[in-house]
Amino acid sequence: MPSLPLILVRPPSPRLAEGELTHLDRVPVDPGLARQQWEGYVAAFADRGWDVVELEAAPEHPDGVFVEDALIVVDRLAVLTSPGAPSRRGELTSTAAGLDRLVDAGVALDVAAISGAGRLDGGDVLEVADVLYVGRSTRTNDQGIAQLAALVKPYGRRVVAVPVSKVLHLKSAVTALPDGTVVGHPPLVDDPGTFGSFLAVPEEHGTAVVDLGDGAVLMSADAPQTAKLYASRGLEVVTVPITEFERLEGCVTCLSVRVRG
Ligand code: GLY
Repeated sequence: MPSLPLILVRPPSPRLAEGELTHLDRVPVDPGLARQQWEGYVAAFADRGWDVVELEAAPEHPDGVFVEDALIVVDRLAVLTSPGAPSRRGELTSTAAGLDRLVDAGVALDVAAISGAGRLDGGDVLEVADVLYVGRSTRTNDQGIAQLAALVKPYGRRVVAVPVSKVLHLKSAVTALPDGTVVGHPPLVDDPGTFGSFLAVPEEHGTAVVDLGDGAVLMSADAPQTAKLYASRGLEVVTVPITEFERLEGCVTCLSVRVRG
């Protein structure tokens, strides 16, 4: 049986370079380097005691490696989303199958789904204590936000919708440190005043952090000044190169779904 904490991940498709682009221009992506970087990303979690569960490979889905967009886990609730990009909706079948296997293996999760005309990408959902900030982006609509709000209410979470117009997802612009401070690169953030406590960081790729536990955060290797800033706040900073995913508007959050228990 998988043990907590765990990450759900999916290896990159050989067609990764064909992934969706919204705000960036297309540049070449090296599939071999992407695979190497993905393995380094997964190892960063495994090295710190996280169990790693791989979803079925989905070579036909260029963006399938960005698993966070199809599945949100909040507390004991797992929500299958309804991705805003039509090209990404086919990722849900193998994501749902992987989630079923996890539940069958004994991981206690309640399963729900966004339905109908609701659209929601997991990259637009940022959890900070009992608040879920949800980006109203090109991928996430008001119906999706309302459905998520109703689903998470019994788990003691409330939803605050926030505008996202400068980047793909909310978490392309802001994430949160373990102490709840929201971090973002101001030119990418629609309204820093939305968040209770906001720390400006000097680099675009420094905005995305994942809480690894025990005072450590995982972030891109492409933001050295921001890494120093986080270290100066007493955090242990683990960096991984993820250039091939950043070229496709990905970051350290969207390459995994974290299940903490
Ligand atoms: N390339 C990631 C996305 O657009 O969903």
